[in-house]
Amino acid sequence: MKNFPGYKCSLCGAEYLQGQVTYTCPKDGGNLDIVLNYEYIKKKFQPEDITSRTESSLWRYLPLLPVDEPEGDSTPLHAAGWTPVFALPRLADKLGLKHLWLKDESRNPTASFKDRASAVVVTRAREIKADVVVTASTGNAGAALAGMSAAIGQKAIIFAPKSAPQAKVAQLLIFGAKVILVDGTYDDAFDLSIKASNEFGWYCRNTGYNPFTLEGKKTAAFEIWEWWMRAHHDWHKNDSPLDNHPPLSIFVSVGDGNIISGIHKGFKDLLALGWIPNMPRIIGVQAEGSAAIANSFHANTEIITPVSAKTIADSISVDLPRDGVRAVRAAKETNGTYITVSDEEIIKSIAELGKMGVFPEPAGATAYAGLVKAAGSGGVRSDDPILVLNTGSGLKDVRAAMQAVVEAPIIEPTLSAVKKLL
Ligand SMILES: Cc1ncc(COP(=O)(O)O)c(C=O)c1O
Repeated sequence: MKNFPGYKCSLCGAEYLQGQVTYTCPKDGGNLDIVLNYEYIKKKFQPEDITSRTESSLWRYLPLLPVDEPEGDSTPLHAAGWTPVFALPRLADKLGLKHLWLKDESRNPTASFKDRASAVVVTRAREIKADVVVTASTGNAGAALAGMSAAIGQKAIIFAPKSAPQAKVAQLLIFGAKVILVDGTYDDAFDLSIKASNEFGWYCRNTGYNPFTLEGKKTAAFEIWEWWMRAHHDWHKNDSPLDNHPPLSIFVSVGDGNIISGIHKGFKDLLALGWIPNMPRIIGVQAEGSAAIANSFHANTEIITPVSAKTIADSISVDLPRDGVRAVRAAKETNGTYITVSDEEIIKSIAELGKMGVFPEPAGATAYAGLVKAAGSGGVRSDDPILVLNTGSGLKDVRAAMQAVVEAPIIEPTLSAVKKLL
C-alpha cells in the first residue's frame, strides 16, 4: 500500500513499519495511529477526485484508507457508511437553536456505527490472510464484525458480556458467528478475547487495540466534510446567514472513545491534506455512570482512571475505556468538551428523537441528551451549526425503548371501546 508506510504510537510517538507490529506499541502499550503518506495522496488526488466517486458507501474514501478495495461487490460489507443527515428544525426550535442536524448511523447494514470499523478490519483480515477474526463487544461491534464477516465468508468469534441485549445477541447468532457469552463485564470479555487471540493465533478486532478500527470510523468525518461542503455551497448561493458561521459542533456518544477518536482522525487527515481550513468542535457525551473519559478531560489529565460502570446505555458502559487518551485529545484539540448525562436524560432523549422519526438505542440517544444539556447551560450558542450522531438503532434494545414511552392500551375489538378510549 503506497499511502500507508506504518504506525506511530499515540503515547510515546515511536514509529513502526508495516509488518513490525500488529496491535499496540510494544514499548508502552499505547494505541497506534496509522500513518498515511499525505504527500503521496496530495500529489495524486484532489478533493473532487473523492467527491465525484460513485460509491454510496465508505469505500468512496478508498484513497484515504490503509486497505485495498475489498474483494467481491455488492455485499453488506460494501454498503457500510454513507448514512443520511437529517435536519431537525422542530427540535432546534425547542432548544433555541438555529441549525441542527442528525447523522443517522442506525442506517448502517447491521444498524450501528460499528459497521465502519468492522468493514475495514475484515478487509484488512483478508489482506493478511487471517483465518479467524475475533472481537470483544458490548454487542454492536460484535454484530458488525459478525455481519461484515458473514458478507464475505470470513470466520468470526465474538466475546460479549452475558448481559448484552437479546437483539444484539440474536444478530451475532444469525450472522453465524461463534458467540461466547462471558459471565462478567465488557472489560472482562475484552481481556479474555486478547488472551484467546494470542493463544490461538486469531486476528483481534478489539476496539482501539486494533489500529484499523479508527481508520474505519474516521470515514464518518469524511462524510460530514462532504455533506457540509455540499450544504454550505447551497447556502452560499442563497445568501444564507450561515456564510459567516462558527465552526460546526459535532456531538458524539462515548464509551471506549474510539468513535470520537476516529472522527478526530478523519478531520486531522483532511487538515493535513489541506482540504479543510480548520477543525470542527468535537463534543463527547458520556453516561454519568460510565464517565471515565469525561472525568479525565475535566481533571485536565490523560491518565484514565477506571470506574465501575453502570448505565442503561449498555454500548457505552465501560470500566476502563480502551481509547481514552485519544478521546480526551479529540475534545481538547478541537476546542470541544465532555458532557455527562443521567440515564433519565438518555431515556427522555430516545422519546424526543422518536418524535422526529429517528429511533436510537440508549447509547445513540446519549449524544442528543448531551446537546440538550449544553443548550440549556450555554454550552452552545444559538447560531452554532450543530450535528448530532445517532450511533445505533433502537431496535437493538427495545426493553430500554419501552421505558421511554407509555405502554399502549389493550381494548375489546369494538368501536365503542375505541370511542371510550378517545
Ligand atoms: C451505539 C453505540 N454508540 C456509541 C458507542 C461508543 O463508541 P466508543 O466505544 O468507540 O466510544 C458504541 C460502542 O459500542 C455504540 O455501540
